[in-house]
Amino acid sequence: MVETIEWRDGTVVMIDQTVLPREEKYVVCRNYEEVAAAIKSMVIRGAPAIGVAAAMGVALGVSHSGAERLDEQFDTICDTLAKTRPTAVNLFWAIDRMKKLYSRLRGRPVEEIRKALIEEAGQIRLEDIAINRAIGAHGASLVPDGKTVLTHCNAGALATAGYGTALGVIRAAVEAGKKIDVFADETRPFLQGARLTVWELQQDGIPAKLITDNMAGHFLKSGRIGCVVVGADRIARNGDVANKVGTYGVAVLAKENGVPFYVAAPVSTLDLTLPDGQQIPIEERPAAEVTHVFGVAIAPAGTEVENPAFDVTPNRYVTAIITEKGIAQAPYEESLTALATMK
Ligand code: MRU
Repeated sequence: MVETIEWRDGTVVMIDQTVLPREEKYVVCRNYEEVAAAIKSMVIRGAPAIGVAAAMGVALGVSHSGAERLDEQFDTICDTLAKTRPTAVNLFWAIDRMKKLYSRLRGRPVEEIRKALIEEAGQIRLEDIAINRAIGAHGASLVPDGKTVLTHCNAGALATAGYGTALGVIRAAVEAGKKIDVFADETRPFLQGARLTVWELQQDGIPAKLITDNMAGHFLKSGRIGCVVVGADRIARNGDVANKVGTYGVAVLAKENGVPFYVAAPVSTLDLTLPDGQQIPIEERPAAEVTHVFGVAIAPAGTEVENPAFDVTPNRYVTAIITEKGIAQAPYEESLTALATMK
């Protein structure tokens, strides 16, 4: 499995997800501004992965800050990282966790603070891998043997610190001996399914076929799909799920055809402050992602575009939400709150 992100000799190293699978290239971030730019430009993407990147960005920023006016610099570092992408709540969760540690350490020698923040970011990364394994262990039993699993976008090792959430469930089902294969939606416009999910599954020898997004309904109707498993960027208290744009359509088509629709996500993706999905901020990405493919224009010059990066799937289409602490089912307000407060 690939290393998505790691702390190496005072730098943050990440695999460049904008050029995969053509090139396997690593980007080295030497300061927090470079980490912020990498998150914004999607060198690193996927909710848990950008959480880890933000935590490492905070650690990197503080390791280059002087002892003078450290509080002020810390706030600037956190604010810059928080402004990169608005939808995935894991980003804010990770920054908050770093802030809490910092406020406990305030007044201690700067060297001690730096060391503790670096360790905390490393811990968030390691915990994420363990969390994904636990999500996989819970979710594997839900995957029907001998069928195809449909997934949208990339919720794999690349979108996390390792193993993946939705792809973690698929990996765990395969490790449990289930004979399954995967249909990956290509996921226009950024093509995370075509470029990243298929690549990742090929690395692991898990049989995968690429389909274009508009083929999902056809296959969901065919009876070949045993279940859909996707990740999430933010889940509201009532179980409404924000995930890569196109997820909502897949969920509606799954329900229409009696195919279970599962969401796999860590508890850090829950935003219990939001009563429902309507308040989830949806990121608008550059028009060029829609009008161009690999730099080649596919629409007339001057074409107007809307490019929401995410959509919200209402909870009635979600069969279950698989977390590291267990599986939540409707009514979600109760089941998600119980999981979130579980030790
Ligand atoms: O825009 P992206 O590529 O960051 O969007 C990623 C997704 O929507 C994923 O499905 C989600 O973050 C879950 S990743 C485990």
